[in-house]
Amino acid sequence: MTQTENRPTTSDTPFVPIEKIVALCKRRGFVYPNSEIYGGVSGIYDFGPLGVELRNNIRRYWWWSMVQLHDNVVGIEGAIITHPRVWEASGHVENFVDRLVDCKNCKRRFRIDHLPPENVISNRCPVCGGELMEPRTFNLLMETYLGVVEGERMKTYLRGEACQNIYLDYDNVLKSSRMQIPFGICQIGKAFRNEVTPGNFLFRQREFEQWDLQFFVHPSEMQQWFDYWKEKRFEWYKSLINHTDRLRFRAHGSDELAHYAKQAFDIEYQTILGWQEWEGIHWRQDWDLSRHSEYSGQDLSYTDPITKERYIPWIVETSGGVDRTFLNLLIDAYEEEPDPAGKEPRTVLRLHPTLAPVKVAVLPLQKNKEELLTTARGIHNRLKRLMVSQYDDVANIGRRYRRQDEIGTPYCVTVDFQTLDDATVTVRERDHMTQVRVAIDELPAYLLERVTWQ
Ligand code: GAP
Repeated sequence: MTQTENRPTTSDTPFVPIEKIVALCKRRGFVYPNSEIYGGVSGIYDFGPLGVELRNNIRRYWWWSMVQLHDNVVGIEGAIITHPRVWEASGHVENFVDRLVDCKNCKRRFRIDHLPPENVISNRCPVCGGELMEPRTFNLLMETYLGVVEGERMKTYLRGEACQNIYLDYDNVLKSSRMQIPFGICQIGKAFRNEVTPGNFLFRQREFEQWDLQFFVHPSEMQQWFDYWKEKRFEWYKSLINHTDRLRFRAHGSDELAHYAKQAFDIEYQTILGWQEWEGIHWRQDWDLSRHSEYSGQDLSYTDPITKERYIPWIVETSGGVDRTFLNLLIDAYEEEPDPAGKEPRTVLRLHPTLAPVKVAVLPLQKNKEELLTTARGIHNRLKRLMVSQYDDVANIGRRYRRQDEIGTPYCVTVDFQTLDDATVTVRERDHMTQVRVAIDELPAYLLERVTWQ
């Protein structure tokens, strides 16, 4: 999918406050706080009718780009619960920790790695200046128990990173598919972390979704594949956003590398919160397969079918978040434009048309003429088999356009009096508000060409 040329350049627009996105998400049914009637649960969210459409589009597009378009990549869907030894082998039981300090005075809690250096040195609270307590260490894995009989129950964990299933299934995939190294396995799935400081809406949650590619290579080809996937993933995100100047790479310093990574780059996106990680590209080397070989006692080495060389494959990982993509795309797309007629500003979501939750809205110009309504309903019934279409005849046409702009619908089809004479409709495009006449018979092809990826 190429970047849409028809969306206006918006690089000089100010950063949108997160509160505006949160309010829009609730008002229009993208995202709701989980268990809200009970007061909510911090760091956990539900997705509403529009949210689930947008999420599905984002997921499908990732899968299409990563699995369908690559002959050397296949997909799996692993379980959320695994054998507890997996998390010992992965290093998470030992290393997946946050170090926290509490302020003696105001009782606020901070992650040490998020504190300004001067507060670490002075041991003072960055908010009230009070003395900080001794740091404590917390493991982020979420525990659960398998079995019902007390004493026989087995403690295990909800997966802390989705990618572990890929290492567990690596040998099965190799034996059951026709893959040979170099090849990759993809997965989209939920991960769970007892984040001690969840926040910034969907950015840091306790239950979230990741998409992973684990690409298995011969050690001598590691650098080449690492560079290949690093560029590929950057270009993928770039093609989806309007503010391409707000995307960058950041190399991890040696002091911040995860326990499994020898080298890592983050793809970062800049919002009002600053530069933040969107996806990680990790040089995992032979850490995962070596550790699982050691802990399980199963040999996970690979024998080259031609050279007969035997080795543990090295791994390039690209690991991103469905939720962060969802949030960043909304932030990137949100804009308030002055109304030329001097009324309320127009709120518009300039989402890529292929990802927009609703592709088309069919609107009869007036409600008082039955023929307009039946023609519009007929068009909607035809279009909804091909794409997400909404029929709307409530309120004046200007307000209905605004409602669709606010949820990012790229096209509105208006059935007016001319339609009854010549079987054409007005198609209004969201970003420039330009209008063209299209014959009803040509409408499906006209829209499909603009709202599907290929
Ligand atoms: N397997 C490697 C791994 O899990 P990570 O950097 O911890 O690496 C990968 O996570 C991606 O998952 C991040 O780039 C981010 O998009 C997403 N992610 C991580 N923690 C998250 C959280 N608490 N809430 C939402 N998304 C999160």
